[in-house]
Amino acid sequence: MKIGCVREIKNNEFRVGLTPDNVRVYTAAGHEVLIERGAGVGSGFADVDYVAAGAHMVDDAANVWRSCEMMVKVKEPLPEEFPLFHDGLILYTYLHLAADRRQMDALLAGKVKAVAYETLTEADGSLPLLAPMSQIAGRLSLQEGAKYLESTFGGEGVLLAGVPGTPKANVVIIGGGTVGTNAAKIAVGMGANVTVLDISLKRLEQLDDLFGGRVQTLVSTDVNIERAVLDADLVIGAVLIPGGSTPKLFKKAYLKEMRPGAVFVDVAIDQGGCGETSRVTTHDDPIFIEDGIVHYCVGNMPGAVARTSAIALTNATLRYGLEIADKGLEQAIKENPAIASGVNTYDGNVTCRNLADSFEGCTYIEIETLV
Ligand SMILES: NC(=O)c1ccc[n+]([C@@H]2O[C@H](COP(=O)([O-])OP(=O)(O)OC[C@H]3O[C@@H](n4cnc5c(N)ncnc54)[C@H](O)[C@@H]3O)[C@@H](O)[C@H]2O)c1
Repeated sequence: MKIGCVREIKNNEFRVGLTPDNVRVYTAAGHEVLIERGAGVGSGFADVDYVAAGAHMVDDAANVWRSCEMMVKVKEPLPEEFPLFHDGLILYTYLHLAADRRQMDALLAGKVKAVAYETLTEADGSLPLLAPMSQIAGRLSLQEGAKYLESTFGGEGVLLAGVPGTPKANVVIIGGGTVGTNAAKIAVGMGANVTVLDISLKRLEQLDDLFGGRVQTLVSTDVNIERAVLDADLVIGAVLIPGGSTPKLFKKAYLKEMRPGAVFVDVAIDQGGCGETSRVTTHDDPIFIEDGIVHYCVGNMPGAVARTSAIALTNATLRYGLEIADKGLEQAIKENPAIASGVNTYDGNVTCRNLADSFEGCTYIEIETLV
């Protein structure tokens, strides 16, 4: 199969859909890989590395789009890329179509076979192509939180670990899933006092075992959240209700009662956020201060560490991408239900039930009936 990869053109997006190591794997399996010149530079991969791995470098993104049978990307295509869709093209990337009717219509009109990273689901219900980004955002939340606790950023001037003779910082993590667990790992490693709140007792048991009692676990109730955050230096919002909007657990009323200069990193902001005072910020302008509390609410945190993110993402995407390339999408759908669950549009049809439910008048067709 002819596999393509272009430079991401979304604002502040430096990740790339294929690394040189990925190219090596595809070419070793007999596939041809076309890479737009400069596509990997933002993630620290030079054109010569792609050439050494066996890729053909192409000057013009439009030529990559038109020549390839499967396009492997990171983010959804932007409107200026829509005219480059062609009948039968396999598009393998994050799509988030439920929030983007225009893009869905363009994929349907172009008869694109769109496989979305975010809906590809394994038999145990896990989302293998979303998890790496949550791991990164969770770990990064501590790095960013520690930075904005510094006095120069309006923070309270507290070092997470403290030093002998000073108090350690209190880190409170609301939500103990992938983001929360990874945040807790770094917080414990940095020597802070760490509290994790979750509504799932099973999850709290797992965290207690994982951290050998070095993390305080609490059932997530309004009372417990309030008690924990009033003495917090750093609060991490890491809640997810799959398919639903995030509950506003971190209330505006708490802010005035907290220590001025404490920091709130609302990782869940991409799903609406779990703070009443949260609003989306960008890497260009990541923080704002409300009632004395520094808010960090960047919706695409992994973009800040493009190289790690590109490697982590492609570690997860390579396996399914290679299966699609080796078998052809139709056979891969028949043999692997996880790949079938990733297909959002196929030959002008909507093949993801949740996506069809998101728009009035949109009909869902089971992918298995089309291949
Ligand atoms: N900003 C970013 O760049 C970025 C990057 C990756 C993920 N995220 C977001 O981070 C959030 C968490 O993702 P995840 O992968 O960790 O999800 P996850 O499903 O692994 O974990 C979510 C956890 O929230 C818990 N939860 C649900 N309701 C709760 C409540 N009322 N109180 C406390 N805990 C509750 C669940 O039990 C679960 O353990 C999501 O909104 C995700 O989209 C953001």
